[in-house]
Amino acid sequence: MQIIHTVAELKTALGNASQTAFVPTMGNLHDGHIALVRQAKNTGGPVVASIFVNPLQFGLGEDFERYPRTLAADAEKLADAGCDLVFAPDVAEMYPEPQTFQVQPPLADVLCGAFRPGHFTGVCTVVLKLFGMVRPRQAMFGKKDYQQWYLIRAMVRQFNLPVEILGGETIRAVDGLALSSRNAYLSEQERKQAPGLYDELKRICAALAAGDEDFAGLEIAAINSLTKAGWRVDYISIRTQATLMPATPGDRHLVVLGAAWLGKTRLIDNREVSI
Ligand code: PAJ
Repeated sequence: MQIIHTVAELKTALGNASQTAFVPTMGNLHDGHIALVRQAKNTGGPVVASIFVNPLQFGLGEDFERYPRTLAADAEKLADAGCDLVFAPDVAEMYPEPQTFQVQPPLADVLCGAFRPGHFTGVCTVVLKLFGMVRPRQAMFGKKDYQQWYLIRAMVRQFNLPVEILGGETIRAVDGLALSSRNAYLSEQERKQAPGLYDELKRICAALAAGDEDFAGLEIAAINSLTKAGWRVDYISIRTQATLMPATPGDRHLVVLGAAWLGKTRLIDNREVSI
């Protein structure tokens, strides 16, 4: 497996490969990332993973500086999973001039966007740049970041980008907590509490599957229960899978999304349910 740091080296390494499968990441890899690499491997084409902590998608006061950077360990995991090429540029390589052209995605001010201004602009902009550099045939994104997955698919559709977006199911710890690089910030006590967010999403899905259509009531009950347990909730929201707009009675393919803080750590999760 080759590890490269510049766009020029990437171009040389890829030649005119046309069947590349691509897994963009910010590193500090766990089994959720590696599942995407294995999925990419199944396509049969060369597999490229990128590792880049993208400053454009972090807000002021967010965790850009303390985001874990673990290239050596990441490279080992990627090699084990059969990755062919790791692209790990630095900020100057990725943004050699001020990024004055940026992607303005829809839904940027709802769900996580409402709490992280500019976040999805930064995500879509860096992903569009990475697609231009890697020119993948397919790219893998985890449903763990459901709004991101939704927006990348919409961007590819609306800009007719020649790449197919594949989704990976959320990989979880045995107690249900979705794997995330940010889980490393949790104290021992917080880590024990952390599956509580997914527990609430599951409770809502069970109620929806049983025919409950009091969406606002279900959301408020979950927010109250998490708040009582010591969480600071950003949102719990029942939406349609097709539009990510708030669900209304009669909608069948739903997704329940949540974001909440335990101490200084912000966790997100979601669960799809069809009724
Ligand atoms: P990062 O958080 O490193 O995630 C990289 C990819 O792994 C994303 O597609 C994410 O959804 C997926 N992923 C993370 N945790 C997962 C889990 N538990 N199960 C399944 N998939 C999981 O998302 C980003 O980086 C960045 O925003 C990026 C797209 C790289 C742009 O900078």
